[in-house]
Amino acid sequence: MIMTHSEFSSAKRSDDSTARVSIPFFDPASAIPDTAVAAGAEEEESTKASDRDAVVSAVSATHAEPTVHIPIMPEPILAALVPQPGQIFVDGTLGGGGHTELIARRVAPNGWVIGLDRDPKALDRSQQRLAGLPVRYAQANFCNIPEVLEQLQVTQIDGVLLDLGLSSDQLADRERGFSFSMDGPLDLRFDPTEGKSASQLVNRLSEEHLADLIYQYGEDRNSRIIARAICAQRRLVPIETAGALAELIRHAIPAARRPKKIDPATQTFQALRIAVNEELKSLEIALQRIPEYMKIGAKIAILSFHSLEDRRVKEAFRDDPRLKNLTKKPIVADDAELAANPRARSAKLRIAERVEVEDPR
Ligand SMILES: C[S@@+](CC[C@H](N)C(=O)[O-])C[C@H]1O[C@@H](n2cnc3c(N)ncnc32)[C@H](O)[C@@H]1O
Repeated sequence: MIMTHSEFSSAKRSDDSTARVSIPFFDPASAIPDTAVAAGAEEEESTKASDRDAVVSAVSATHAEPTVHIPIMPEPILAALVPQPGQIFVDGTLGGGGHTELIARRVAPNGWVIGLDRDPKALDRSQQRLAGLPVRYAQANFCNIPEVLEQLQVTQIDGVLLDLGLSSDQLADRERGFSFSMDGPLDLRFDPTEGKSASQLVNRLSEEHLADLIYQYGEDRNSRIIARAICAQRRLVPIETAGALAELIRHAIPAARRPKKIDPATQTFQALRIAVNEELKSLEIALQRIPEYMKIGAKIAILSFHSLEDRRVKEAFRDDPRLKNLTKKPIVADDAELAANPRARSAKLRIAERVEVEDPR
């Protein structure tokens, strides 16, 4: 059964607003091949979920810590998406709920924001923060937006936001290993129940695979030195913590080859995070699938934080006939925002509009 927006709105208001849609990862059989992950494919294939059945699960009763994440470029994003009362938006990266809150206040009272995140803690935190606002929650990868929409019986959306990467809440969480200045377990998964942890990768992949992964996803010219040092260390003792890996990398890189502005471990951590979460594959699949569900005139806004992401967004917005690129150059944070939120430094915002596709005949 297909519902109109207003039917959807009233149906959702009358049901349990604390329910959460949970969708397993996109079926990898139809996924786009991804070179560095494919290199470690024998390690990863067995853990991928193939069950696409969606279930609605009750929200957990935990009381989450308040978010410390500051939403990036809120004004340009709102100016691009122009949320109006009654519309339906998707925030594919709910995080601390900052952007969702801004959009939800504008689409209220009859519209909705559908907020997805892979991280159950982010969902708990946002559900607590956004109580009373018209938001539906889904624990899902944003490449599964079509399945979430199907589950909620929504056929088309008025706009979508993806704010890629990790949140300040995840960075501050000792248990996740995202910050190498805290000595937490080397996990790096957005959803700690899905796939392999970063420590499993560093302790099991071959030296060659590790070097390729660090080179491709971290763009680190020291990749071979780092992979060699990891393999030498793990022969003595497994590498289990973020601190142990960071220390090992710092010692392995000769002074002349150390990056000037960042910790020598930064790019390896980026590479491992991208690999364990299959971040680039998720983005590529999402870029292919989402436009089909956007109304003509709807906008997609994507914030990316490194060149591997930004290049994919730029190319999709340029080459997809369903999209009109509205940002020839990406939008960046202004000085006032940079002063208030240094995390905005590397952010690039690109926007595209869904357009009618000409009949090829
Ligand atoms: C930068 S934060 C978003 C912050 C949010 N916009 C706010 O204002 O608080 C990115 C969030 O996206 C989630 N995430 C990353 N990749 C994802 C994916 N492929 N699907 C769903 N969520 C994802 C992360 O778990 C993280 O919570």
